[in-house]
Amino acid sequence: MELVAAADSDERGLMLLRIWNTLRSIVVPHFKYWIQYFFPKSKDTVPKRITLAGNELASDTEDLIEEVIVSKEINSSENETRGNEEISASETDDVDILQEESIVYIAEVTAKLLEEMPPIINTEVNEKVRLHCECLVLSDETLHDVCQTLNTELNRGLAKETNAEATIKCFPTFVQELPNGKESGRFLALDLGGTNFRVLLIELGEGKFAMDSKIYAVPHDIMVGHGTELFDHIAACMASFINERQLNDELLPLGFTFSFPCAQEGLTKARLARWTKGFKCAGVEGNDVVAMLKDAIARRQDVRIKICAVLNDTTGTLMSCAWKNHNCMIGLIVGTGTNACYMEKLEKVELWDGATDGPQQDFDSGFEGVIINTEWGAFGDNGCLDDIRVYCDHNIDKESINPGRQLFEKMISGMYMGEIARQVLVKLVDEGLIFENQNCDALKEKGQFFTKYISEIESDKPGDFSNCLSVLEDLGILDATPEDCASVRYVCEVVSRRAANLAGAGVAVLLNRIAQKKVTVAVDGSVYRFHPFFHDMMVEIIKRLVKPGIEFDLMLSEDGSGRGAALVAAVANRSAMERQQLLEQQAR
Ligand code: GLC
Repeated sequence: MELVAAADSDERGLMLLRIWNTLRSIVVPHFKYWIQYFFPKSKDTVPKRITLAGNELASDTEDLIEEVIVSKEINSSENETRGNEEISASETDDVDILQEESIVYIAEVTAKLLEEMPPIINTEVNEKVRLHCECLVLSDETLHDVCQTLNTELNRGLAKETNAEATIKCFPTFVQELPNGKESGRFLALDLGGTNFRVLLIELGEGKFAMDSKIYAVPHDIMVGHGTELFDHIAACMASFINERQLNDELLPLGFTFSFPCAQEGLTKARLARWTKGFKCAGVEGNDVVAMLKDAIARRQDVRIKICAVLNDTTGTLMSCAWKNHNCMIGLIVGTGTNACYMEKLEKVELWDGATDGPQQDFDSGFEGVIINTEWGAFGDNGCLDDIRVYCDHNIDKESINPGRQLFEKMISGMYMGEIARQVLVKLVDEGLIFENQNCDALKEKGQFFTKYISEIESDKPGDFSNCLSVLEDLGILDATPEDCASVRYVCEVVSRRAANLAGAGVAVLLNRIAQKKVTVAVDGSVYRFHPFFHDMMVEIIKRLVKPGIEFDLMLSEDGSGRGAALVAAVANRSAMERQQLLEQQAR
């Protein structure tokens, strides 16, 4: 355990910092249980405040301790009637666990607690509700199996022989070089991948970055209409952006973030493999989306652009983070959809038919690689996740626009998470476990429990249900009891924890494949951004699944789709110029 090692170290400052960081990320989400464990049967030892080197361990430590005291008192009266040792906790002084000089003990207790800790423990909930939700709780053993299967599926996607029938396609992106921070210039970026479409103007200077952007809606009839209408709409939005900023006279390089599965045939050629995330425009699958965009621009004849790169949002996210952080080798999105890309060794990418002598990234172990867009959202489409998919997953899939497809994504991402929770809640209503005599008509309507509700409900402090009550009010449920609220919160926790565990398992697999000592994972997407514990839950599970000796951190990558697109375009420009210079030198 890291903490024990730290406690043996002489460097006290460093040790404190590491203990503090580790305790915060591990213990704080489970603080109440940690205290109960740490002060198991003691009589008078529940302190008023627990601090570590003067820092309070959790912002609501006092409330949590209060709860522990109350629960100990309840236990104690139960114990008395059973004739057991009496436990009557009373308030004592503050305890600063460092001054107690019990670091190693804390470390051991924490390590043990971590092993024993049940996966979901934040909310105490009616036993029947808990039992009902059990099918959504994944044990570490199951998650290990998921990791192994995912790894096998990634190998199938990368190998020539199996790629055709593989569900995880592992598309090479033709991005082989990460930014070095010296990229500069003005770029346009287009970002299509969710309900909105954005046009961005980005200015890069050494380590500097400025951005101007505008969001345009993509109406539903365009999302499911004909492809030419979609690209005409994109071109129209871009033209209006360029006109508004009077950029018509400049031939700006453009990066196009197109966040759907594409088989790339070069940095500026990407054939859409299939639509995901609610899009279904006819006449695009199988075609090169860059060519379709160029055609739409040509039809208008009022804008001039130079398309330098087409990329997935995961690639943009990775590049955007790698611009400042040179350990970054994984890009992850947990938003409307979910997907990840990573730097893979060229020798493992059997389908690679791009350059092997072009500019490439040098890693500490000296490998040459290319970014692979895994498209892991399709994991499970061949049935390999059927053991863990449950009734709500089946219902959601059946009712979706793409049944049988993107099954991993449907268990994780924001487009589906609220609906998963709604399905579970409706089951609980039908079984008479929640909302007795309440009007549940709105809750019973498909799509009415938004994913953002999960983040809001879990943002309530333990024991407080203000956000939960206001969400229920939105749904017309006006007289929910505290027990109802606890059940609703529990359902949200189970659903988001399952999503974080699955996404975390995926990241652990990629970290283990890359097998570098220290790797930063760039992450973006609304679920990761707005859920109060998604980051912590992911870190927790990755730690349990990653091979020993690999250090990692998850970093929010600000606006990867926009800045990343500009960076891919910029790196491509820079490399082209460097190659040109080299050729000129050689010719002299
Ligand atoms: C979907 C898309 C994928 C994208 C992800 C996140 O899974 O297929 O290309 O990266 O959503 O936006």
